[in-house]
Amino acid sequence: MTIHKEEKIWAFFVLGMVVVFLAALAYAAWGLGLVTPYTVQQVPAEKALEVLKPGVDCINPNVKKVVDNAVVCEDGRYYVNVIGMRFTWLPRNIILTDPKEVKFRITSPDVIHGFQIAGTNVNVMVFPGYIAEITWKVPANMPAGKYLVVCNEYCGAGHQDMYAIIEIRR
Ligand code: CUA
Repeated sequence: MTIHKEEKIWAFFVLGMVVVFLAALAYAAWGLGLVTPYTVQQVPAEKALEVLKPGVDCINPNVKKVVDNAVVCEDGRYYVNVIGMRFTWLPRNIILTDPKEVKFRITSPDVIHGFQIAGTNVNVMVFPGYIAEITWKVPANMPAGKYLVVCNEYCGAGHQDMYAIIEIRR
């Protein structure tokens, strides 16, 4: 078999490109420390509801109060554990009083869902088997009111009914 000169040139060129791409990937991963958008923790899908208790809590337990059955964190820093399952988000009503920083931890016991707070930059893909984490810096000028959380990944016959409400109190 003869390999023509032009073929050799292209073969080396292509090989060179592969090396460049792999080097760029390695540099991004280890040099720049880039990861996929969220740090994730693994959890067996069937244990999702046991491991991640849906609800609101304070990042700093010392500033936690309960007002009108709602957890209030005086420093505005909240944890919100969310379960996305066919076809609802749990908890369905999330009350946040003067939130500044909200850390969502979200998982699914069944299929892939998409956690999106309409009108904000919060948009997380939720995979069964993983806990997605995202920190939401709530804009200080965000008005009090009710905000809709939708599911933006088609997850079955009741997909369009899968919602929750985030109520911001000021
Ligand atoms: Cu859950 Cu669509």
